[in-house]
Amino acid sequence: MVKKFPENFWWGAATSGPQSEGRFNKQHANVFDYWFEQSPEEFYDQIGPDVASNFYNSFESDLSMMEELSFNSLRTSIQWSRLIDDFETGSVNQDAVRFYNEVIDTMIQKGIRPVMNLHHFDIPVELYHKYGGWESKKVVELFVLFAKRCFELFGDRVKDWFTHNEPIVVVEGGYLHQFHYPKLVDGKKAMQVAYNLNLASAKVIQLFKEMTTSGDSRIGIILNLTPTYPATNSAEDQQAAHIAELFTNRLFLDPAIKGEFPEELVELLKENQVLWESTKEELAIIKQYTIDYLGVNYYHPHRVKAPDISPNSVGEWVPDRYYDEYELPGRRMNLDRGWEIYPKAIYDIALSIKEHYGNIAWFVSENGMGISNEERYQDETGVVNDRYRIDFMTEHLTYLHQAIEEGANCFGYHLWTPIDCWSWSNAYKNRYGLISNNIHTQIKTIKRSGYWFKQVAKDNCLPQSDVTFSTKF
Ligand code: GAL
Repeated sequence: MVKKFPENFWWGAATSGPQSEGRFNKQHANVFDYWFEQSPEEFYDQIGPDVASNFYNSFESDLSMMEELSFNSLRTSIQWSRLIDDFETGSVNQDAVRFYNEVIDTMIQKGIRPVMNLHHFDIPVELYHKYGGWESKKVVELFVLFAKRCFELFGDRVKDWFTHNEPIVVVEGGYLHQFHYPKLVDGKKAMQVAYNLNLASAKVIQLFKEMTTSGDSRIGIILNLTPTYPATNSAEDQQAAHIAELFTNRLFLDPAIKGEFPEELVELLKENQVLWESTKEELAIIKQYTIDYLGVNYYHPHRVKAPDISPNSVGEWVPDRYYDEYELPGRRMNLDRGWEIYPKAIYDIALSIKEHYGNIAWFVSENGMGISNEERYQDETGVVNDRYRIDFMTEHLTYLHQAIEEGANCFGYHLWTPIDCWSWSNAYKNRYGLISNNIHTQIKTIKRSGYWFKQVAKDNCLPQSDVTFSTKF
């Protein structure tokens, strides 16, 4: 059967300012710039974000390559630490305004719809040192001011906006699991940060609604939904999965779409004296200003089992008290990244949005495969023969297509990422792009998956003959 996608389906990919631009001409450091300055040894091969994939200098030719791949849309982000000179007054940096204007204009001229995100883990480090970053509601206000400048400057041409990318990662990385600066383990702060990020999103949406009078602009949030699967059907494992779902997905999904935090989650936080500080007025804003549409990043499932140790144990409160990670025997893995490959989850996500979240419009805002040392797959012409990435996309798109056939309201698919880019503390360890990047020369070459993607985007359809998966599932 021909797997055709809906009309005007978004085909493209996602990147972010901090991972692609490089630090060129930036007046302020974001948390990652700073963390790398402090501890380069914590980054793979000691490679930091200074050059990234050189997008600041090479955006024109980069965008030409994406045009060549038939992209009709691209998501990136505006760096707060680049656009704003003075965070308190919101005065803007003229070189940054020029840069983002040129990027946006070039995209439009090439038929690539600009999809702009405002926060991709990259808070200016000064705001962490001065106010405690997202722990502080002052920073929420400053973020709204930054968003205001973005809408004023670029809102005439950018019609698709997102407030945050994967806000749960800020909570987990910075405040629970120590993989992002400031690398704390502090359950109470973590929950306040989660609340403040939700509040910031709602306040930016409020501002957006006040500022936008034309009906063709939309705003949403990008969440990494990792569907939770219990190890077994036992009541204990199911309860563990239920609580994991509350923390990892619903903590952001419910307020974003329904305007409310799950009651059960609030009760649990109260019982443990880790509930965030909120006001009635703030909760009313969260209630009223929900998203127009949703971006879903999906990489891998989350499998859990009942915890070995009672959640009532004494010690620092952290959400992972309620569940233990579970490794499914015989699971399929991307061993390079350490992530399970489970394409069916994309179908499960789609149906869950349909059933539980009013079938809100959404798109796959990231999906992809990070592979190390891809030079080993280069053919004699220097093209990376990444058959595994084609299989990965085919399998995920097949499930996505099935979900759309069953009524899922999905309007696009963006791969992570167009051009191999810098990935936080993993730096350039794993490559995700449709286009490879030689980080020593910045020479960029389309991979085999790029040519495949081009055809799919052009036809708006999965190729019929290309279903010889290397691995069956
Ligand atoms: C996502 C994140 C991206 C990128 C990707 C692959 O979680 O949004 O910024 O790093 O993972 O590592």
